[in-house]
Amino acid sequence: MRIAVLSRNKNLHSVRRLLKECRARRVECDVINPLECQLVVDGKQSRIVVAGRILPHYDAILPRIGASITEYGLAVVQQFETMGVFTVNSCEAIAQSRDKMSCLQILAGAGLRVPKTVLTRSRRSLENAVNAVNGLPTILKVLQGTQGVGVMLIHTPISLGSVFDTLQGLGQDVMIQQFIAEAAGRDYRAFVVGDRVVAAMMRTAPEGEFRSNIHRGGQGQLVRLKPEIERAAVRAAKKLGLLVAGVDLMESDTGPLVIEVNSSPGFEGIERATGLNIAGMIIQFIKKEANRRKRSRRRI
Ligand SMILES: Nc1ncnc2c1ncn2[C@@H]1O[C@H](COP(=O)(O)OP(=O)(O)OP(=O)(O)O)[C@@H](O)[C@H]1O
Ligand SMILES: [Mg+2]
Repeated sequence: MRIAVLSRNKNLHSVRRLLKECRARRVECDVINPLECQLVVDGKQSRIVVAGRILPHYDAILPRIGASITEYGLAVVQQFETMGVFTVNSCEAIAQSRDKMSCLQILAGAGLRVPKTVLTRSRRSLENAVNAVNGLPTILKVLQGTQGVGVMLIHTPISLGSVFDTLQGLGQDVMIQQFIAEAAGRDYRAFVVGDRVVAAMMRTAPEGEFRSNIHRGGQGQLVRLKPEIERAAVRAAKKLGLLVAGVDLMESDTGPLVIEVNSSPGFEGIERATGLNIAGMIIQFIKKEANRRKRSRRRI
């Protein structure tokens, strides 16, 4: 079995963990930097060239595309797909989950419960937008933030107007979202592999902070999710077409809400909080799934 991880940096914690677990399972694993990939479209000879060398055939590709190279990274994932290679998270799944508004639209369209959210470019109807999400204080988010950067808590109309104008001025579309104050800085990160939650942690924001991201100083602890939250996490990943996903959920007065879904979730924090070998579970799943697909291709 030969697989590849698409990542710019083989020294990243998550990539080193994946490489270690591949070695432990005798899976050959290359780390390919998407930015070094030359994509050649040439009918049946379509190929990917890195440093003048045509890449070999892989049984599976695990995309770990960083937020800053989404567009080029997705072109590389799509090239592998059009060459018939199994991509664990598909180009479409990554694209529709990475844009927070498209993610919420798809989840809400599938009947999953998400926070009230408004996407608007109209300065004049800003007040209506805020009223539609339970008023102030409210949350503003850019569409492609990560690690809590791009998530803002707004208390006053004056702050709202100035922050909105600034983000629009920077060419950033802005989501206005109900502030789930009752969660008191706690949320859940459910780690989905295939069709099940393999690990979950509750994250608690540090003093003076509302965002519970580990990168913002949040504390993670192992939790057993309530069945309805676990079901929502699995359904959210499935609806978006992700086979490996980090689903963020929050408890609200009206029940659990899916906040967002990450297609390249880190696992340093959740492996530390849970003591579980998540990298190992991912490689085990890829082995099984790639073999299953190989067998079904042979049957055709
Ligand atoms: N509507 C909300 N109400 C209250 N708190 C929220 C809300 N949305 C997000 N948060 C808090 O802010 C954190 C970051 O928000 P979100 O997950 O949307 O952004 P992110 O930067 O993409 O995170 P990630 O690193 O998981 O990709 C959440 O983990 C949660 O603690
Ligand atoms: Mg998040």
